[in-house]
Amino acid sequence: MLKLFESLCWLGLAISVVALTITSLPSLGGSHVGGNMLLAHMMASGVLVFTLPLLAVFGVGRMLGAGEASPAQKISFWVTIATGFLTILTVFVCMLPIPSTETMHTLALLHRYAGFAMVPAVVLFLISAWQFRRMNSMRSSTPG
Ligand code: HEM
Repeated sequence: MLKLFESLCWLGLAISVVALTITSLPSLGGSHVGGNMLLAHMMASGVLVFTLPLLAVFGVGRMLGAGEASPAQKISFWVTIATGFLTILTVFVCMLPIPSTETMHTLALLHRYAGFAMVPAVVLFLISAWQFRRMNSMRSSTPG
């Protein structure tokens, strides 16, 4: 049951990352994310903010232990968690009445880099997790 919930969380995270990436694409053309795109970006961010801490808690034991995940899975897991939290933290700090305008610009830039770095990390994690599962099920179904 918990395994199914964890898989659903990964699905939610993957969908939210796709939505967040699509809604942030206008910024690559030199303009800023605003209007309906920013609204959609913020709606999708809720899913990421909800699922990321849960996935960190679910995965931490397995990703630190030996033999329970492939090296590619472990690396991509930690990069996903680190870039994900940095993406959230940079926006969170911007909401506080502490940073100067200049610091906010730096945080927005950091947010952009961390967010885009998260995309290949999530893709690599999903591929390596699927490969690891497939290898394990092939091993357990092979006699001897
Ligand atoms: C894969 C994840 C994400 C990616 C690729 C991403 C990417 C971006 C990019 C490129 C921008 C444009 C920055 C600019 O206009 O200079 C942006 C803006 C923004 N993002 Fe994200 N983001 C992600 C996740 C999140 C999350 C989780 C939140 C909220 C917790 C969030 C909140 C915002 C906000 C409020 C802005 C507007 C800030 C501004 O215009 O300076 N994003 N995002």
